[in-house]
Amino acid sequence: MKRRAKITALGRYVPPRVVTNKDLAQMVDTNDEWIVERTGISERHWVEPGTPTSELAARAASDLLQQRGIEADEIEMIIVVTVTPDMFFPATACLVQDKIGARRAWGFDLSAACSGFLYGLTVGAQFIESGAHTKVMVIGADVMTSILNPQDRATLILFGDAAGAVLLEPSEDENVGLLDYLHEVDGSGGPSLCMPGGGSLNPSSHDTVEKRMHYVHQQGPAVFKFAVRKMEELGRGLLERNQLKGNDLGCFIAHQANIRIIDAASEKLGLAPEKVIKNIHKYGNTTAGTIPLAIGDAIESGRLKKGDLVMFAAVGAGFTAGSALVRWAY
Ligand code: UT7
Repeated sequence: MKRRAKITALGRYVPPRVVTNKDLAQMVDTNDEWIVERTGISERHWVEPGTPTSELAARAASDLLQQRGIEADEIEMIIVVTVTPDMFFPATACLVQDKIGARRAWGFDLSAACSGFLYGLTVGAQFIESGAHTKVMVIGADVMTSILNPQDRATLILFGDAAGAVLLEPSEDENVGLLDYLHEVDGSGGPSLCMPGGGSLNPSSHDTVEKRMHYVHQQGPAVFKFAVRKMEELGRGLLERNQLKGNDLGCFIAHQANIRIIDAASEKLGLAPEKVIKNIHKYGNTTAGTIPLAIGDAIESGRLKKGDLVMFAAVGAGFTAGSALVRWAY
C-alpha cells in the first residue's frame, strides 16, 4: 500500500484593511469598471505598511493549530512558500517557527511565486510519504504590497496580502490525500514577471532604487497567455493520466490571478461552472495564499466535502506551473 499525505486542517489569515477599486482610483489612473472587467477583482486586503510576511504566516499557522486542536510543538516541519520573505535570510520559516513556538520543527522557505503553494504541498507530502514525518505544515504567505510599485496601475490593482496554511499527515487510506501532481518550469519566461533588483545580479544600490527595480515587473499579456495554456495543459494531463473526466471532480481550485484566466482554462477543460471555485473578487491575487484561501471558501460554501476529488492548478513567475489531484480527507 502506498503511504499518502492528506490535508487534515486549514488555517488562514487575511489582514483587516480592505482596499477597494475606488480607493485605488485615488492613487493611479484606473477605475472600478476596468479592473472588474479585465481581472474580476473588486477589492483586496492590504497589510498596514511594515507588517512582515512572517506575521501573516504565523497567524495562519496559529489558526491551523486551533482548527486541528494540536499544540505547536507537535509540528515536525514548516515549509513557508513566499516571494516576499521578511529578509533574504534567515528564512521566514525560521521566524515563523519561533513566533508560534514550534520547538521540534525544522523547515525552510520555498520560492515558486504563484505556483508556490502547490510546489510546497508536493514537497511537504514527500516527507509524509517517505515516513520521515507525521505532521508537516505548509504555509503560503505573501505581503505583495511590500514589492508593488505604487505608480504602476497595471500591477498595483492586481495583488492583495494574505496567508494560508495546511497540515499534512499520513493517510490510512491510499485513495485519500495527494494522489498525483504534474509540475513544470519554463525558465525562459523569467523576464515576463520578476523583481529584478536586490539579488546578486543587481544588488541594492541608489541606482537600483532610482530605476524602480525593487518592484514587481510584469508583461501582463505574455503571462496571461502562458497561464491559460499551461493551466489547461497540466490540468488535462493530470486528468488523463488518472483516467478521469472533468465530471469526476468535486471541484477545481485554480490560483486566483485573473478571473478571465480561470474561466478560460476551466472552459477549455470542459468543467461545469459550478465546480470552479472563484474568490478573486474579494482578495485579488495573494500569490502563495490564493489556493488555501480558496480551499477555505470552498469548504465553507459546501462545495468541497470529505471524499471529493479536487484538482488544483497554478501558474506563476518563473515561469512555474503545476497541477495536483487530491481526494479530500475531512
Ligand atoms: O499570478 C501570476 C501572474 N500574473 C498573472 O497571471 C497576470 C496575467 N495578466 C493579466 O492578468 C492581464 O494581462 C492584466 C490584468 C495584467 C492586464 O490586462 P490586459 O487585458 O492584458 O491589459 P493590457 O496589459 O493589454 O493593457 C490594455 C490597456 C492598456 O492601455 P492601451 O495601451 O491599450 O491604451 C493599459 O495601459 O489597459 C491599460 N491598463 C489599465 N487601464 C486602466 C493597464 N492597467 C490598467 C488599469 N486601469 N489598472
